[in-house]
Amino acid sequence: MLDIIYKRRSVREYQPNCVIAKEVYLELIKAGVMAPSARNGQPWSFICVDDSEIIKELAEKVPMVNRFRDASGFILVLLDLTKNPCPLAHQDLAAATQNIMLAATAMNIGTCWIGLKDTVGRIEVIKEVLNISDDYELFSMIAVGMPKNDDAFHQVDRPIDELVKFNRG
Ligand SMILES: Cc1cc2nc3c(=O)[nH]c(=O)nc-3n(C[C@H](O)[C@H](O)[C@H](O)COP(=O)(O)O)c2cc1C
Repeated sequence: MLDIIYKRRSVREYQPNCVIAKEVYLELIKAGVMAPSARNGQPWSFICVDDSEIIKELAEKVPMVNRFRDASGFILVLLDLTKNPCPLAHQDLAAATQNIMLAATAMNIGTCWIGLKDTVGRIEVIKEVLNISDDYELFSMIAVGMPKNDDAFHQVDRPIDELVKFNRG
């Protein structure tokens, strides 16, 4: 497990025209729903986008997605507002997002978390293209695909000495 955590990197360049099977997406979602959630609320829902025409439309309409136009697909992590989510629900969704990315890394599949900050209405565009109702809030979008570069999972060094204290701040 530690190997996978150290191996995961944000992958932004993908082999074009690479199909990832639906079963693989489902395997990734299975890992997502194994995340912890406050009060075991499991307030998540997921949309896997693997249709090349829809990916093209998203890339054309949303600049943040355009960078990932060669990805095989995307997984959207949604907050299901009908589940009466608790105030900590976004933390649950972050945990699910990370689980998905780690599971993908274990399968040598590249991922990148695409931040969705709705300053210019892009979330609404994504919701419209994907026909997502207002019962759902878009939390994260994960690009998924086979890395183009051999060193996509390159190691990074992040020293922790100055970040951590024991017992008291
Ligand atoms: C909430 C969040 C939003 C992010 N948004 C983007 C994004 O929009 N585009 C992008 O290329 N990377 C995005 N990233 C990936 C970060 O840039 C990346 O995790 C960081 O540079 C560290 O690199 P690493 O993931 O390879 O360790 C995001 C990561 C997080 C956690």
